[in-house]
Amino acid sequence: MSGATTMMKYVKAARVEDVPVGGKTVVEVEDRLLVLFHMPDGFFALDDVCTHDDGPLSDGVMGEKTLACPRHGAMFDIRTGAALTMPATRPTTAYSCKVENGDVLIAIGSATLAPETTSAEDMSAAPSSAPDKIASGMPILPKKDDCVVPPPNEAATAAAVVAASESGEISEDVLREALKAVIDPELFVNIVDLGLVYNVTVSDRKEDDKKHVVVEMTMTSPACPAGPQLLQGSKDAVMRVPGVGSNEVKLVMIPPWTPDRMTEAARDQLGIF
Ligand code: FES
Repeated sequence: MSGATTMMKYVKAARVEDVPVGGKTVVEVEDRLLVLFHMPDGFFALDDVCTHDDGPLSDGVMGEKTLACPRHGAMFDIRTGAALTMPATRPTTAYSCKVENGDVLIAIGSATLAPETTSAEDMSAAPSSAPDKIASGMPILPKKDDCVVPPPNEAATAAAVVAASESGEISEDVLREALKAVIDPELFVNIVDLGLVYNVTVSDRKEDDKKHVVVEMTMTSPACPAGPQLLQGSKDAVMRVPGVGSNEVKLVMIPPWTPDRMTEAARDQLGIF
């Protein structure tokens, strides 16, 4: 483990009896909210903030070694703070703990026990064209502030146009193919393979022979500032299919996106096995 601080001081956070073995609680230490875990091998503490989208980790479900974020299910290592599963890809901060005279003390300092995974420097160094990967196989994502929708994948659009022209009808499959042109700016995978497209419905328009299409889709992160561009990109992708006269793209956040919605193709692309 790296990153031990020279400015560290131990601060009382709880009494041993406050947290049963196998349990957790929220503590406030020096204006920080932390989750304190009492594991069979000792006490551990993490920042109470999920690095995916600020979910409250203190409400998460504990496993033997892991904590699952209550919002989208990202798993963190209780002992190191490492992000183990998507959609989180950056570690949360882990703090050293010790027990003295029945008091649980947490080390607070300028740096604590940052796990040897992704760092802020690594994140800024991530390429903009495709995600890099860290040792665990997880992609390194751009910071949300840099969230910019990549240009549409013209090959997907072309495939959908050909399929629509050949079949002479606009099916859900054709439209989903067209929507593969839209690339998620956080994961650099198309929105269909990521499982962001929930429903696609096609109906006849009254005024002509063209179709009206309604798409219901979600986002991996509601905080992504590129959300409006993603929705517009989806509208544009649908309109490029011959025979579509109008469309609506609705953003839905329920049910929330979870990584198990990804196709095998997306998993392959992200290097998740
Ligand atoms: S906020 Fe924690 S997984 Fe999304």
